Amino acid sequence: MTDNTSSPIMILDGKEVSFEPGETILEIAQRNDVFIPTLCFDPRLKPFGSCRMCVVDVKGIKNPVASCTMAAAAGMEVQTSTEPIEKFRKTLLEMVVSENREIEVSPLRGIASQELSLLVERYDANHGRFQGKKSGHSNFDDKNPFILRDYDLCISCYRCVRVCAEQEGDYAISVMNRGFQTQITTEFNGDLRDSQCTFCGQCVQTCPTGALADKKALRNS
Ligand code: FES
Repeated sequence: MTDNTSSPIMILDGKEVSFEPGETILEIAQRNDVFIPTLCFDPRLKPFGSCRMCVVDVKGIKNPVASCTMAAAAGMEVQTSTEPIEKFRKTLLEMVVSENREIEVSPLRGIASQELSLLVERYDANHGRFQGKKSGHSNFDDKNPFILRDYDLCISCYRCVRVCAEQEGDYAISVMNRGFQTQITTEFNGDLRDSQCTFCGQCVQTCPTGALADKKALRNS
């Protein structure tokens, strides 16, 4: 079926779809009810392109590309779920969850807290496939009454850091170190109440693993 608008056209999983200049492949897929898995993506935030769960095949490009950062172009041909792509996603998920103490967490931890576990379930990803070093150490000693900082569950998607900066302009949360030493932290690595944090809860609500959680909701459950 051909889309008769004057907007440019691309081919998504064999179907012609129109798009607006500047739209990413992921945005077009979502608008057309084509599922592409994501972890570091939050529609409110600037595309970050770090988790690679959203990779797709683009005809003429050798390696898969992150659909959350790649803008569509007229005539582009995209496959969103080839066998190699799905295999890649499953392996990637297995690497991500190999570091986490637990995958299934209470939905009371936050609105997005089930995102990782739902993907693990969908891809039947093996929790114990990869063993080794772990990154992110929980900070249960943070005395604030609102936000649980359980970084053993952190996957370094930086959604908390970005929402704090981009949506709130607070810059209360940041990242220190790299690789397995990567740790979500605050300025001077202190408690949240000693930082610029206003306890707005945006970081809790964007966290896809429940690493940041609503202490009050958990207490009252
Ligand atoms: S959602 Fe695209 S790289 Fe994470």
